Amino acid sequence: MIGSRLVALGLINSRKNWFMKGFAVLVIENLVKVYPGGVTALQGIGLEIERGMFGLLGPNGAGKSTLMKILAGLLEPTSGKIQLNGEDILSDPQLVWRQLGYLPQDFGFYPHLSGEAMLTYMLKLKGVESPRGLKHLVAELLERVNLSFAASRKVKEYSGGMRQRLGIAQAIAGDPGLIIVDEPTTGLDPEERLRFYHLLSELSQDRIVLLSTHIVEDVSMLCPRFAIIRQGQVVKRTTPSQALGELEGHLFEGVVDRNDMDRIYQSWLVTQVVLFEGKNHARVFSPEGAPPEGFTPVKPTLEDAYFSITRKVGEVHGGVSS
Ligand SMILES: Nc1ncnc2c1ncn2[C@@H]1O[C@H](COP(=O)(O)OP(=O)(O)O)[C@@H](O)[C@H]1O
Ligand SMILES: [Mg+2]
Repeated sequence: MIGSRLVALGLINSRKNWFMKGFAVLVIENLVKVYPGGVTALQGIGLEIERGMFGLLGPNGAGKSTLMKILAGLLEPTSGKIQLNGEDILSDPQLVWRQLGYLPQDFGFYPHLSGEAMLTYMLKLKGVESPRGLKHLVAELLERVNLSFAASRKVKEYSGGMRQRLGIAQAIAGDPGLIIVDEPTTGLDPEERLRFYHLLSELSQDRIVLLSTHIVEDVSMLCPRFAIIRQGQVVKRTTPSQALGELEGHLFEGVVDRNDMDRIYQSWLVTQVVLFEGKNHARVFSPEGAPPEGFTPVKPTLEDAYFSITRKVGEVHGGVSS
């Protein structure tokens, strides 16, 4: 459906491209990045990513942006291999430029330009050509991301969600088989986020969309597969259902007195502490199945799964998002 819509829009340029997308696979092998100052941002990342949406979930500093910049050909890795559809993209970055759409974490816009002028400028930079002319293509892309109504408005008047959609418009120009979006939902309000989710999920029907985020909800809403990355390493590659399944029957919740929180932290793996009606509701993961006294079994969430993987017994955090 999306494919035919894109054909109608003149965004699919060749049969070959279309064919390749059918078998899209991105293979990352033992990728290492040591920055000139000596920071090791990636410590041997290995991942195989197929068509559809793939989430890269990890806290700040985990190495997500570093990995995405390398994939986008903007940064050279220290060592490692990356193949897209069996072709080495590190030795031939042009190969990926033609097939890649990239929405960086810090996307720079010229605030005084209109959305239409900004997009035109970005397409020129990207070297995108269109048989029916750039003006036509810009109009089509704005339509595709629901921004036609704001085409002549200045970018500085755009909301966060509108800016991200404009960023997506440049990323999908040329109909790339691989789209990389780096923390695209940060700062969006719930309604804008939902809208953006729908756009991304539509785009992932017939290509690889690699989404990095520190927001667990992004993954549970969008990603049939995801990896957890921490300190430059993949600590888990799983699916939301599988991750939840592993916690089933091992997650417990109880109200804990403020003075007793330390004892709970020291003896159990606390996934979250939720404040409800002024009381601390602690959730603990107990792989052996035994709960702390007074705790009862609860249904796990993907947040519990994420924190059960990234946190340890004895680690004090004191809240959901800390
Ligand atoms: N240009 C740089 N020079 C040196 N260190 C960097 C640079 N960019 C990022 N880092 C470091 O690399 C690590 C990973 O950063 P980054 O890839 O931005 O993580 P994330 O996107 O997951 O927050 C961090 O320790 C960060 O401080
Ligand atoms: Mg980042």
